[in-house]
Amino acid sequence: MEEKNCPLCDGIGWVIRKNGVEKCTCQYSDITENIFQRMNIPRRYRDKELSNFEPDEKAGHGLVLLRVEDYINSDRFMEGKGLFFVGPPGVGKTHLAVGILKEFFRRRGIVGLFYDTRSLLFKLKASFDGSASAREILEEAVETPILVLDDLGSERLSDWARDILHYIIINRYNELRPIIITSNIELKSRKLDGEVLENTLEERMGQAIASRLSEICEIIPVRGKDKRSSGLIAREVKGEK
Ligand SMILES: Nc1ncnc2c1ncn2[C@@H]1O[C@H](COP(=O)(O)OP(=O)(O)OP(=O)(O)O)[C@@H](O)[C@H]1O
Ligand SMILES: [Mg+2]
Repeated sequence: MEEKNCPLCDGIGWVIRKNGVEKCTCQYSDITENIFQRMNIPRRYRDKELSNFEPDEKAGHGLVLLRVEDYINSDRFMEGKGLFFVGPPGVGKTHLAVGILKEFFRRRGIVGLFYDTRSLLFKLKASFDGSASAREILEEAVETPILVLDDLGSERLSDWARDILHYIIINRYNELRPIIITSNIELKSRKLDGEVLENTLEERMGQAIASRLSEICEIIPVRGKDKRSSGLIAREVKGEK
């Protein structure tokens, strides 16, 4: 039977990175698979890495990757500083956020947590009868050393959802724990071509949150083509997001 090579290292066992050569994840895939599951990384994104993010130079992705590398290599996360990726659908924001979580694990042994924001709220709501499990989920989101909130602000929030997000973000802010955010909408209103952008996180989540997030998150705009609709995605793991 023909054996399928690992898509990252092509069966060699090592991958080339900027700072040298590194053992490929497939070499300890059982352990890492387990850890990535613990980090709640969705199956669709399990093979996404910073190393297989293909930068589109015209869209300024080179600078995006430089800023990401600079963040990972610095100690800013220890001061509670995070990142806020903003841009249209399909340009690789979630891919980058997952890649960062994995690098934090590989380079620093930090096990973070990934949540699609709407799923986190849904999960909490489904178990929010004062039960231990809801409290555990919430505490984990507050206490994990690095939290990804994917797709923040994708819809208008109920007062309850807003309160929960307040709780998570303000507690993390106070305890200097970083958040990596991806979003389709800008954090704060700003003028674009003479027009004021009004559909913002500030408007959806309130000034208190937006002002804290703008203090602790470096804003990284991600532009480019929608890779989903352009058919450029070479290989996708079939299954739930
Ligand atoms: N520059 C890139 N190199 C390699 N793959 C990419 C790149 N950009 C996007 N992709 C792939 O395209 C798909 C969509 O990307 P992703 O889910 O990260 O988009 P997104 O910006 O988070 O979109 P949304 O705002 O809809 O959540 C993923 O499979 C991702 O791996
Ligand atoms: Mg996304």
